[in-house]
Amino acid sequence: MSTQPKPSNPLKAVRGTRDLLPPETALWNRIEQTARQVFSRYGFGEIRTPIFEATELFARGVGEETDIVSKEMYSWEDRARAQSEKAQSLTLRPENTAGVVRAYIEHKLGETGDLQKLYYIGPQFRRERPQRGRYRQFWQIGVEVLGPVSSGSESPVRDAEVLEMLATLLDELGVKNWRLELNSVGSTEDRKRYDAALRAALAPVKAQMCEDNQRRAETNPLRVLDSKEPADQEIINALPKIADFLDDSSREHFAAVRAALDACGVPYTVNPRLVRGLDYYTRTTFEFTVPSSSDPASGLGTQNALLGGGRYDGLSEMLGGPKAPGIGFAIGEDRLVLTLQAQAEAAAKAADESSAGAPGLASQTWVQIPKLDAYIAPMGAERNAAALALARELRRAGLSVEVGDGTFRLKKSFEAADKVARHIVILGEDELATNTATVKTFATGEQVKVARGQLGELLRAKG
Ligand code: HAM
Repeated sequence: MSTQPKPSNPLKAVRGTRDLLPPETALWNRIEQTARQVFSRYGFGEIRTPIFEATELFARGVGEETDIVSKEMYSWEDRARAQSEKAQSLTLRPENTAGVVRAYIEHKLGETGDLQKLYYIGPQFRRERPQRGRYRQFWQIGVEVLGPVSSGSESPVRDAEVLEMLATLLDELGVKNWRLELNSVGSTEDRKRYDAALRAALAPVKAQMCEDNQRRAETNPLRVLDSKEPADQEIINALPKIADFLDDSSREHFAAVRAALDACGVPYTVNPRLVRGLDYYTRTTFEFTVPSSSDPASGLGTQNALLGGGRYDGLSEMLGGPKAPGIGFAIGEDRLVLTLQAQAEAAAKAADESSAGAPGLASQTWVQIPKLDAYIAPMGAERNAAALALARELRRAGLSVEVGDGTFRLKKSFEAADKVARHIVILGEDELATNTATVKTFATGEQVKVARGQLGELLRAKG
């Protein structure tokens, strides 16, 4: 006797990953389209690098002691395919600056002598604890500007231009209340001196700090400044400030970035604790945030950094390349979507409250999918083929069309059509015999019979 296999539980997406479905994907597309348009106005071109790279790239580029490299990477040993081949450690990219700089070196882009202005849009992977606004597969929209010193890549104008472009992009997307936090972490030498000063200042007090900060004080004292641990804030605020360790050229560079932002009218706040979680940064570092967890309009809970970036003047050399100073940023696209949705909901709620009794705008999805031009309803299964042929004709003429099914009763066809389209086009025996179509426009309730030759014009013009 054969036994039926036991039904297993349906499989789900892996923890920390998620599916993006319509209509929300329309918002993702709008964001990406706007970003591409803005970037092209500033002379950027797209770069697409592999989703996995040699593990060593991130160890050398991002830094062995960072949280990303020490705890969060998805790495595996790739099997050797031949005896002569060595197994290689590979990693799903946790970020894309290291990959872009690797590509810059590999393709000798520096030899053109030109400044490279590159952007990317794609998934990144970090094994973080998932929560709202923090995922294990997340999307970044990023930009990198780099080149030989002779291309002007070190100039503070580049920093200010990138920041001004971000302000423009966020404004064009309709993000409200963004805040730019800015700092300078100086040169590699400045940071060495600052690191020593931090270690000295932390030594007598670190025992009073949380376990995480005690560890950071040993391995990477700069990271202590990132800590949100409430009990440690008093100690952290009293630590030496990086601004007091900048050499003259870093200080002048930072002053020039600020002066250019002032000239452009881009507002910012200097945050001396903003050191960022990746080791490659030098000089300018920045984050854009939206109001914090206490404000529901941010949509981000405690993850309030919409994007982060900065300068990385030594990264190319760290990866074995020529000197190629650069600056860039990456926007967390998941967080941008959450912010736009939360801000739209808050605005709709406010509008509802001020117009008491009006229908609930807040309950509507703010991504409105435009209705199709027509829904073709064949009357009887034998007219399905004719309906598909008509749909082909209309679609090739640029109209958006859905085709029903001849087995549907007329009432079902009308209901289906009303959901998705502005018009229903009825194709019955009579219409096919006389080369006509019956069209009802839902907005007006008007129903007419038209010659097939005039159908396209009618569908385009009405409603
Ligand atoms: P990052 O600060 O590590 O910088 O990440 C940039 C942004 O990616 C964050 O501000 C956040 O919005 C988003 N993000 C990071 N982790 C997650 C996560 N687990 N879930 C959702 N969103 C996340 C970088 O990655 C640098 N490569 C940026 C850069 C480019 N610096 C210079 N050029």
